[in-house]
Amino acid sequence: MSERIKDYWNQRAFDSSGSLTATTQDIWLRRLEVASLIGMLETLRLPPGTRIADMGCGDGNTLLQLAQQFPDYHFMGFDYAPQMIESARAQLAAIGGLDGRVQFSVGDVNDPVASTGAGQLDVAMTDRCLINLETSAAQYAAIARIAECLKPGGLYLAIENFHEGQDAMNAARAALGLPEIPVRWHNHFFRETEFLDHMAPYFSGIMFHEFASAYYYATRVIYSGMCKMQGVEPDYDHEVHRLAVQLPPLGNFSPVRMAVMRKSA
Ligand SMILES: C[S@@+](CC[C@H](N)C(=O)[O-])C[C@H]1O[C@@H](n2cnc3c(N)ncnc32)[C@H](O)[C@@H]1O
Repeated sequence: MSERIKDYWNQRAFDSSGSLTATTQDIWLRRLEVASLIGMLETLRLPPGTRIADMGCGDGNTLLQLAQQFPDYHFMGFDYAPQMIESARAQLAAIGGLDGRVQFSVGDVNDPVASTGAGQLDVAMTDRCLINLETSAAQYAAIARIAECLKPGGLYLAIENFHEGQDAMNAARAALGLPEIPVRWHNHFFRETEFLDHMAPYFSGIMFHEFASAYYYATRVIYSGMCKMQGVEPDYDHEVHRLAVQLPPLGNFSPVRMAVMRKSA
């Protein structure tokens, strides 16, 4: 199964040939994720020289946008799909001027220390990466290794999917007679209480940022309801998506959320 998931991501990188759809069809969600990460890093006001790693960076689009936004920071991204890293390096070369501050490599989030070294990072990020690991045990083992990569007091920003938001979204869809959106075949979502229990040995000050809740409510409930009424298929590039990324956080209607936490000293 895990080889099948890796093949899937390699194939997506190949098929998307540098477009934003490499890591999800929902291109406005990707933009919202980047905007939310930029907002979070701006709030954190980290010092020059800050070292940030994106684990499971896909085609590197997120990391490259962060690198352009924060010229005083150093960035590394790794992904186990070589085709994704090829795409990331091609984009790095196309942008130009970031060499030396941004590096991409092939690596596995099950052993992130092999890619970043131990205790070297100020910030570790995963963005819809750990949901590709097949069991909760594998996910929490990976997080324990991610903690090893961080300096004491370092931050982990986890944009990952949780059942609670998915369930709330599906309940709202059901009220409009819309079918449930299932978890995809290659994904394994987190559960909040279990997640918090497993973070406690390594991290403190855990906070959830529901940056995509209003976006999911607008696109997966209201817009999907409109499409049903009109008898048309939803379009990920519809102007409702474009508008919905501008909505402030509201409620918990999104499977995707950002957990922010600090490595205990
Ligand atoms: C949904 S994509 C997200 C990519 C990127 N983080 C983004 O936000 O666009 C998931 C990525 O995780 C990578 N991935 C899955 N399992 C991995 C593992 N064990 N180690 C490293 N990368 C992995 C996949 O190759 C894919 O690029």
